[in-house]
Amino acid sequence: MRSSCSGRATFKRSACSACPVFGDGAPADQTESTMTTLGIIGSGSIGTAIARLAIAAGLDVVLSNSRTPDTLTETVAALGAAARAATPEEAARAGDQVVVAVPLTAYRSLPVATLQGKVVLDTINYYATRDGHIEDLDSGRITTSELVQAHLLGARTVKAFNNIAAFHIPALARPAGAADRSALPIAGDDAMARAEAADLIGRLGFDTVDAGPLSQSWRFEPETAAYAPAYAADPAAVLRGWQQMVDDLRAGRAPRLPAPDAGSPLSAARLGKLLAGAERKLTADRIVA
Ligand SMILES: NC(=O)c1ccc[n+]([C@@H]2O[C@H](COP(=O)([O-])OP(=O)(O)OC[C@H]3O[C@@H](n4cnc5c(N)ncnc54)[C@H](OP(=O)(O)O)[C@@H]3O)[C@@H](O)[C@H]2O)c1
Repeated sequence: MRSSCSGRATFKRSACSACPVFGDGAPADQTESTMTTLGIIGSGSIGTAIARLAIAAGLDVVLSNSRTPDTLTETVAALGAAARAATPEEAARAGDQVVVAVPLTAYRSLPVATLQGKVVLDTINYYATRDGHIEDLDSGRITTSELVQAHLLGARTVKAFNNIAAFHIPALARPAGAADRSALPIAGDDAMARAEAADLIGRLGFDTVDAGPLSQSWRFEPETAAYAPAYAADPAAVLRGWQQMVDDLRAGRAPRLPAPDAGSPLSAARLGKLLAGAERKLTADRIVA
């Protein structure tokens, strides 16, 4: 597992011997990134949390959902002048990179042709109770992101932001070089796409640990060691909260939702160890599935 260079304050593609993503192997072009706009398909908890960080980092964001852009009027107003609402097609076209933050059931409706060639940050997790059972995922034959990438022909999918709770994103984002900066895992089949995603995520407030191709992204799918409780101040309480919620649902009671958690930084070094030692969690092994 390779962690990204955390010391860069600028959003620049540059050779850096301390930065494994660019330092040894990947092309080290020296150009400033020309990225100005982040497209967002799916503007719920995760999409808007990422939008907020992107705007704070100086990017424009184009948000979209399953309905018409006017249904995002309040969201856009809360985000300010750098945000606008559009259709998924338009968000895909406008974005230099595009976040896909929709339920898995929606992946077939993504604008495939427009996403060709783009870095697509795939935040999607699989929940069989929400998304319906998918045998290839239940069996672990493929990862969720491989399923998405197989549909998004020509897109450069990078799994990211799927292993952290939406409310921990603003709580844990920090400037480059901060001692308590957290890291997020990424995986993708295109090494340059991973590098571009790492640069963007760095700019948004997180270091990254490169887990390799999409086939390895199971290492940070739900309920693996690198999943959401790893960013919690009280991981055991989060797990108890999940169990309680599931028990309530199974008993036909209104589910008690897990208590809010303040979050706790997860360093790149610690995350790298969690990913390296990960055990695969299939649907049948999970508390919440
Ligand atoms: N919430 C978390 O903490 C968290 C953490 C990590 C990963 N994730 C994963 O990230 C994804 C998004 O989660 P979320 O919690 O942000 O969900 P959410 O709050 O329910 O928001 C989902 C968004 O996707 C939009 N959407 C649904 N179908 C669409 C379609 N066909 N085309 C365009 N947009 C569509 C929805 O639009 P409408 O409102 O118009 O339907 C909504 O804006 C899920 O796969 C989830 O498992 C969530």
